[in-house]
Amino acid sequence: MEFSAFGQKFTRHAGITQLMDDLNQGLTTPNTIMLGGGNPAAIPEVLAYLDQQSQQLVKNGDLLKAMANYDGPQGKDAYIRALAKLLSQELGWPVGPEHIALTNGSQTAFFYLFNLLAGDFADGRKKKVLFPLAPEYIGYGDGALSEDHFVACKPTITRLDNGLFKYHVDFDQLEVSDDIGLICVSRPTNPTGNVLTDEEIMRLDDIAREKGIPLLIDNAYGMPFPNIIFTDAKPFWNDNTILCMSLSKLGLPGVRCGIVVAPPAIIQAMTNISGIINLAPGSMGPALTLPMMENGDVITLSNEVIRPFYQAKAQQAVAWLQQAIPLPQFHIHKPEAHCSCGCGSKICPFTARNCTSA
Ligand SMILES: Cc1ncc(COP(=O)(O)O)c(C=O)c1O
Repeated sequence: MEFSAFGQKFTRHAGITQLMDDLNQGLTTPNTIMLGGGNPAAIPEVLAYLDQQSQQLVKNGDLLKAMANYDGPQGKDAYIRALAKLLSQELGWPVGPEHIALTNGSQTAFFYLFNLLAGDFADGRKKKVLFPLAPEYIGYGDGALSEDHFVACKPTITRLDNGLFKYHVDFDQLEVSDDIGLICVSRPTNPTGNVLTDEEIMRLDDIAREKGIPLLIDNAYGMPFPNIIFTDAKPFWNDNTILCMSLSKLGLPGVRCGIVVAPPAIIQAMTNISGIINLAPGSMGPALTLPMMENGDVITLSNEVIRPFYQAKAQQAVAWLQQAIPLPQFHIHKPEAHCSCGCGSKICPFTARNCTSA
């Protein structure tokens, strides 16, 4: 069988497909020790909450209603209104329903956005997506229709005490030429757990504005949910930002629900593409989580259950690794957390300070 250029590009080996295949094997093979790879942990309190929400949905008939109807191509209206209200109230952003579109997971949103804002243009120009700080999320690299679609910059590396280090954007080397159509960062990033500082984000925002291109911030692990951020980094959005969020890292990867918060022109474009490719995004995730977006439980769960859970895991992993590999050439990227851990370590893995009085 002969495949088109599209077919050839999308049927060759892709890192993200391999990773998802590995995850599936890890989850379905007994006695495998799953080390994550992006699949959210089974947090008992979160599962109990979702179980109770699902039962409620069955009882009141909303599950059937969601399954038996299409939503619009932008996503469930009531859900988009609830998200706009939540983001305005929690973060003070001037966000209305015209700024939000739903997709089948944020992975789908990246595909739309990378190809909407970069690639071949009608007048013959070609634009690329710039990742100002590598290493970046493995899921981006294969999501382009054209070859040679991405360019990435090496970071500067700051050595910290206690074998820790942190990546920073190398602004001295960062070149944003006229063939860049989009700047993209994940904050926090997977797999290093790096969180770009507020200053780095503001500088990237300035550069993007100056160049007349958007800044995409992949907020899959960020604020206000699931808020798996241990630094005091501030959430960021303005009228030149495309913020991609997700229900996955809350504990719901199976519902495949991504959320894009962006200027209305981008949302209209996403809605159009969504109609063509999906008819409508899936309605189960929005139906299940509408109450928690409306009553704010999503924020409480994130702050009081999800973030502390991952913070404790990160802390434990660093402590075990440092104990097991006490070599000067062994380094770990700093888990980006402030010291509310009360860990009592002489040298805290998060702050590298004495934490015995915490
Ligand atoms: C940094 C990052 N962004 C986005 C995603 C995609 O999430 P989803 O498509 O489930 O919303 C992942 C998944 O692992 C991720 O690690």
